[in-house]
Amino acid sequence: MLSISFRADRPSDAKTIALPVAKDQAVETYAPAEIVDVARAATANFAGEPGAIVALHATLDGTIRQILLVGTGADRAAAKAGSALVTRLLTSGEQRLVVDLSGIDGPQRAEFAAALAQAAMLRSWRFDVYRTKLPAKQKPTLETIEIVVGDGVDAAEAAWAPLKAVAEGAAFTRTLVAEPANILYPESFVERCQELTALGVEIEVLDEAAMRELGMGALLGVSQGSEREARLLCMKWDGTGGAAEPVAFVGKGVTFDTGGISLKPGPGMEDMKWDMGGAGAVAGTMKALATRKAKAHIIAVCGLVENMPDGKAQRPGDVVTSGSGQTIEILNTDAEGRLVLCDAIWWVQQKYHPKTIIDLATLTGAMIVSLGYEHGGIFSNDDGLAEQIVAAGKKVDEKLWRMPMGEVYDKLIDSPIADMKNIGPREGGSITAAQFIARFVDEGVKWAHLDIAGMVWASKPGTMFDKGATGYGVRLLDQWVKDVLEG
Ligand code: BES
Ligand code: MN
Ligand code: ZN
Repeated sequence: MLSISFRADRPSDAKTIALPVAKDQAVETYAPAEIVDVARAATANFAGEPGAIVALHATLDGTIRQILLVGTGADRAAAKAGSALVTRLLTSGEQRLVVDLSGIDGPQRAEFAAALAQAAMLRSWRFDVYRTKLPAKQKPTLETIEIVVGDGVDAAEAAWAPLKAVAEGAAFTRTLVAEPANILYPESFVERCQELTALGVEIEVLDEAAMRELGMGALLGVSQGSEREARLLCMKWDGTGGAAEPVAFVGKGVTFDTGGISLKPGPGMEDMKWDMGGAGAVAGTMKALATRKAKAHIIAVCGLVENMPDGKAQRPGDVVTSGSGQTIEILNTDAEGRLVLCDAIWWVQQKYHPKTIIDLATLTGAMIVSLGYEHGGIFSNDDGLAEQIVAAGKKVDEKLWRMPMGEVYDKLIDSPIADMKNIGPREGGSITAAQFIARFVDEGVKWAHLDIAGMVWASKPGTMFDKGATGYGVRLLDQWVKDVLEG
């Protein structure tokens, strides 16, 4: 992982120095006097657009250096700048980057430095553990970033500490998401999370016998066709010393989703290793919150199962009884996420009585049909809660779009043989999935369901991630905790 530090002055021995440039900023105001002429000549086509980079070589402080002018746009986009620099330098052969922020106004400098650092760290995350023959030219070389902040070192370090915690949480999530399903299955997911106990997170695990005892037949029905045993993982963080009521985060953790007997088509099925992205986000958020010692009380629950076809697997037409006592006719074994969530949500309610629940799940392909890859869908029984979460998402650029719910949708999952069926018609498939979960939320509980099917894995790089696992949800939930529970 990149090592990032803050310092007062520009070091005299750094080969590569980055200077931020705001939109249409005059050369004399950002370039040291020695390099103004070279910079002017090099920037004919550059107006400080966010993330744009102009590279030049010039003598500065007596030696020839590579100078990277990096655009920050009209609103001083620190993240875009940090991301662009890392994208450019990560495998460039360069080991060390100095980013000189002394041109940025004092009061804004610490926050700008911390935001730039976080984007740099997030954008540099890679998953190379299984690449034993990676050519040298593709290996990351960039090791350190030093950010020059003048007399703002203490302020920058203070601003960076919580953002670093969140970046580490997101990295934890991404590793869980990227691991293949032969390595990451319910039991090994739980093992990976054991490291959180060192941060003060309390862990409780239910095995299949314990869940059977409690009658959690919906979750267990999904797991029935797998050689891997299911787990219910509960992680608790209380940074309020018992002063606050708990809020629950619940994640769908299907470590592989073949569809079960309603088998998915072969092409693209490998994507279903990241069908535990909701659980991964919840786990990474707990890491972030515990690392930064958030003043909040959170109970996180991950429903961990593998959905496989087998002689023992559940069949279309089966009727199962959930922990809540409600019965479910299974019409499609590929609509398994809601079966896992309904028992996880039931369990956390009967045990901890949270008044607010937020669940995250890669629940429906229909969500991607609705919103593409730009927004996750949010469904909620409470306008205030929905607005808070949408607002938090906007701040961290993990965007959400509110989706409708209602009685007419709810009726679509009535079953002739049981209390409900696990699928509705094809149309509005994300909404009927949300209605299904809503039937398990207790009276008076504020609940939001985030369908993040399109957000967990990226097929092209973004500001905060390369292709692959995005860590979506960690910055979002952390921001909501900060704004609403700690605010
Ligand atoms: N895990 C999938 C949803 C999914 C699909 C997530 C693509 C990410 C990318 C979920 O378990 C599923 O299979 N849903 C079905 C529901 C249908 C059977 C009602 C779907 O979306 O097709
Ligand atoms: Mn499925
Ligand atoms: Zn699934």
